[in-house]
Amino acid sequence: MDLHTALGPLQLRNPLIMASGTFGYGWEFRDFLDYSRLGGVIAKTVTIRPRKGNPPPRTCETACGVLNSIGLPNGGIDEFLRVGLPYLSRLDTCRIASIAGETVDEFVEMARRISNQGGADAIEVNISCPNVKKGGMAFGADAPATEQVTRAVRAVCAVPVIVKLTPNVTSIGEIAAAAQAGGADIISAVNTFLGMAVSWPDARPMLGNIVGGLSGPAIKPLALRNVWEVARSVDIPVMGVGGIVTGADVLEFMTVGARAVQIGTASLVEPTAMERILSEMVAELDEHGFSSAEQALGRFKPSQGPSCCR
Ligand code: SIN
Repeated sequence: MDLHTALGPLQLRNPLIMASGTFGYGWEFRDFLDYSRLGGVIAKTVTIRPRKGNPPPRTCETACGVLNSIGLPNGGIDEFLRVGLPYLSRLDTCRIASIAGETVDEFVEMARRISNQGGADAIEVNISCPNVKKGGMAFGADAPATEQVTRAVRAVCAVPVIVKLTPNVTSIGEIAAAAQAGGADIISAVNTFLGMAVSWPDARPMLGNIVGGLSGPAIKPLALRNVWEVARSVDIPVMGVGGIVTGADVLEFMTVGARAVQIGTASLVEPTAMERILSEMVAELDEHGFSSAEQALGRFKPSQGPSCCR
């Protein structure tokens, strides 16, 4: 089975990429995963200064999903360049750094320094974190701000720029088009959906930050709809993210236009999930007579009416 896929300028061994925030900078999963079997990895988002993150509890399990209000804890860009990026750069897969700024200047400074140091094959611009007060989703919820930050990062980056979008907007297609207009090479869709959980007996929130972002299988149909809309709105490649836990899930996202997918929450509950999902995807493709992953791309035929099979 030919699993290779091209994500714009990035050539991937297969379409499965480990999502940001679910494996640190690589060493946390070194005993569980053979990175050379993955399409790529995206490091935990880094910020210009070290951050402690949000008050605990930071996660809460819900029906078919996880709420998180992590708040981008990390050691800051200096530590990332000293420790995180050198480790990441040794992994035998496509290595992607992730940045989140409070201002355009912060995004630009981090992108420039990562690009100049080398070791990352691409940079994901996280304009979609729902758990921080400054920056975060504020950029990704506004089309002109999305275009502005994308253009500024693109101008200082020697590697492909990936823009990660939030689904917490009225029209994600407009935001995706703004990222493309700013020069994005690739879109990631989507980050988590804003949600909350409460304990009714004592009438208190379950998360220290009160609200958080929902991920996991509960959001898969929502993410799939967003990815379809994004794929119809831009000409650049799209990475699908949201609730993928099986090989069939991957192929559903590819069918509606994602050239690759990111796996996140599944790895938190099952550290070897990516290898299982890859085997399932191969078995699914084989069973349905496909000889390559790319044959599954963009085949969606809504005009033919609803399916009678599953
Ligand atoms: C977080 O650290 O709060 C999660 C990262 C994100 O949602 O972008």
